[in-house]
Amino acid sequence: MELCQLPLVLLLISNIYSGQTEEGPKAKVRIKPDQHVFRGETVTLRCDIDGERVSSWKYSWYKDGSVSVFSELQEHTFNSVTESDAGKFSCYGAKRGGSRTSHISDEVTLTVSNKPRLVLSVSPQKWLTEGDPVTLICEVERSSTVWTFSWFTLTASSDYGNHYKLLSDSSRGAGGNYTVSSAALNHTGVYVCSAERGKPAYNTWYSNKQPLWVTGVSPPVSLIISPSRTQHFTSVSLSLSCEEQSNSERWRVRRYTYNGWLEDCSSLWGSQTGSTCKINSSRTSDTGVYWCQSESGENSHPVNITVHLDMILESPVHPVIEGDSLTLRCLFQNSTLPILRVDFYKDGSLIQSQTTEMIISTVSKSHEGFYYCKHPERGESPKSWISVRVSHSESQISVLHTLSSVLTICPYLLVTVMLIFKCCRMRGITAE
Ligand SMILES: *[C@@H]1O[C@H](CO)[C@@H](O)[C@H](O)[C@H]1NC(C)=O
Ligand SMILES: *[C@@H]1O[C@H](CO)[C@@H](O)[C@H](O)[C@H]1NC(C)=O
Repeated sequence: MELCQLPLVLLLISNIYSGQTEEGPKAKVRIKPDQHVFRGETVTLRCDIDGERVSSWKYSWYKDGSVSVFSELQEHTFNSVTESDAGKFSCYGAKRGGSRTSHISDEVTLTVSNKPRLVLSVSPQKWLTEGDPVTLICEVERSSTVWTFSWFTLTASSDYGNHYKLLSDSSRGAGGNYTVSSAALNHTGVYVCSAERGKPAYNTWYSNKQPLWVTGVSPPVSLIISPSRTQHFTSVSLSLSCEEQSNSERWRVRRYTYNGWLEDCSSLWGSQTGSTCKINSSRTSDTGVYWCQSESGENSHPVNITVHLDMILESPVHPVIEGDSLTLRCLFQNSTLPILRVDFYKDGSLIQSQTTEMIISTVSKSHEGFYYCKHPERGESPKSWISVRVSHSESQISVLHTLSSVLTICPYLLVTVMLIFKCCRMRGITAE
């Protein structure tokens, strides 16, 4: 008799301990849009009871372990959340009439921080050749939930401010990656992104600016710099002209300087007459990337221009063709004594220290790199990137030519060798 009742007693005890009979189901806190939110966002806390219809329940919310009830609604909304709303929240429900209560939920922590920083980066690089694939990546710092991203380009204006223009295909990058499968010259420009989430939408600030520079095979226009070099002294006059292939477009000179401004040649830094922009007296703040743009959005190759005090490297503006010669010079602005000797560096390694001039008579792809010159008393010049281009038409022709001649000669060669061989053997046999 007693033995028979034992299983029943055990079942009862186990039920009491697991709370299945005495108490109801478990409550759970959910936070929308995320546990980690930003000041000003609309945030909703919601208490859910497992498997129960909501209408017949009452709710109690607790914050930071306090015994006093913080709210009695199933959903509690902060319309514009602040740091003081942050904390650990838990809730439980009770059926109206008091017949059943749920377990209290686990605590869920709501964190509130300042507006997030939006980081825009580029992969694999920002200097591109026409046809290269490129991806702009926009990320909300310290946030893992889903955001919707918008994409803009910087537009130059005559006033001091820059403005952002929404890209017509912005929705393409809504997931955070804006991918261009094959870069064209008209992708040259400065990009920013923004992000939003939630309802009503919460917007981030704009991201950092990210330029993309595309050099092409045959641009419709070239930027000609005079004097013809990438580095220039301060307080000199520079002329930048857009030399067009066809006369149909109006071109203007545009620049992006390292302080982050996109500017058309105008009274602020230069004066444009026709398609030539003139800088009367160069300053170090003129250092930047320069290019020509037409009203319809066509671009020339972008060109680096560096303005530096006293000591510069004279290097070509446009890529050097493989096989050509390359001359680099180290120039000084104010010298009482003649300077006879400097050190030339490539990618940080000393490559020559004889005179103030360095000549590479036959350039190959391996000469590509960052060059600068250095003098023990005068300091060093800025670095300039020298790119080497394989002359496309020539290299293709020569490879094809070699290949086709080998292919045509081959059968003849083979037959000739075989004939000679046979001939020799037959002679050998007849001689015996
Ligand atoms: C860039 O040029 C291509 C054709 O080369 C054109 O289809 C595209 O719309 C242009 N994009 C912009 C932003 O102007
Ligand atoms: C411009 O300079 C950057 C480094 O500052 C370099 O990576 C880039 O290749 C240069 N572009 C040209 C066209 O020389």
